[in-house]
Amino acid sequence: MGPGPINADPRVLRAMSAQLVGQYDPWMTAAMDETQVLYRQVFQTANEQTMLVDGTSRAGIEAALVSLIEPGDRVLVPIFGRFGHLLREIAERCGAEVHVIEVPWGQVFTATAIETAIASVRPKLLAVVHGDTSTTVAQPLDELGAICEREGVLFYTDVTASLAGNTFATDELGLDAVTAGLQKCLGGPSGSSPVTFSPRAASVITARRSVEAGIRSVGDAVSAHPIRSNYFDLAMIFDYWGPQRLNHHTEATTMLYGARECARLLVEEGIDEAVARHALHGGAMLAGLRGLGLEIFGDPAHKMNNVTAVVIPTGIDGDKARGAMLNDFGIEIGTSFGPLHGKVWRIGTMGYNARKDTVLTTLSALEAVLRRSGVAVTGGGGVGAAYEVYQDAGVA
Ligand SMILES: Cc1ncc(COP(=O)(O)O)c(C=O)c1O
Repeated sequence: MGPGPINADPRVLRAMSAQLVGQYDPWMTAAMDETQVLYRQVFQTANEQTMLVDGTSRAGIEAALVSLIEPGDRVLVPIFGRFGHLLREIAERCGAEVHVIEVPWGQVFTATAIETAIASVRPKLLAVVHGDTSTTVAQPLDELGAICEREGVLFYTDVTASLAGNTFATDELGLDAVTAGLQKCLGGPSGSSPVTFSPRAASVITARRSVEAGIRSVGDAVSAHPIRSNYFDLAMIFDYWGPQRLNHHTEATTMLYGARECARLLVEEGIDEAVARHALHGGAMLAGLRGLGLEIFGDPAHKMNNVTAVVIPTGIDGDKARGAMLNDFGIEIGTSFGPLHGKVWRIGTMGYNARKDTVLTTLSALEAVLRRSGVAVTGGGGVGAAYEVYQDAGVA
């Protein structure tokens, strides 16, 4: 019950135990096509360039940034947690001139603050995290697409932590680039990064298309300013996933099976239904933690459905209590980073773990651990408050 990775859905694990096939086997190429169709539904986009980047979520981030940014390009990164710092770090390594604006962890930006920064920086790219797992809050994106469109700015977001657990729709939000991971609300393991790019972003990327020497045919593009990474060269990855099937890396077949199954599960459930499930169980967890008398960290108006930051009660050792949750009850809850380290625990309700039984068991275990540590908690207050949320929602 941490902030991810969480338990994978057993159906995903079963899919990943299937035998490997060659990367040009018709079954394999059909599975790649099907995966693209499925992720268009997951991301809610018509973007042709929708696929997987092999590697954890930051592989998708690196691929997007290194393929969109040329050295010297201006990039604006609004930072409200650890993963905004990661976007800055990666953009800097791509040679961008990075400008940042910051708010304290636990808060988000107003659209006006971002609009003002865009007007003064005039960036090529706005790179912003949607849900920053380190603080548990999500940056509202709804007004940013129109601002970027008007100002001619490419709009990128990282939805690793938020996708499938919170309302999100790529095309409706006017996004040009979106990257994700499997290990949060998608209920899979880390190691594959679903990504999608608008036609505008795709044309910026393919303008630098440079086909690798060993597979180049007469007339194939050779750019004077190629993308600065071979592995994360999205122009070549587009050719690999597209009808040309031009060889690039060896597809991580087992991860593809897993990513495909994650999307199949989600599409079967329905994206809106999955978001509603995360809102229900996240809401029950939040009510239960409050019911125990604990304080919640972060702006409640912008809290993600799938993870909650709880202030560690004074006078107890947060890591020792986490250890007791794990050793005595077999339940993992999360620590935190940077300025929040030692101050909050992060408790997830995501993917396969966004369920009534996991919420109620976690709350009762936490009550027992806190009581044993000498914290005055409201007896039965956690489970009782969560039950009320379920009852109000008509969940038996
Ligand atoms: C919002 C966000 N972005 C990026 C990452 C990095 O993901 P990975 O560790 O899979 O590379 C994480 C991981 O927790 C995350 O929560």
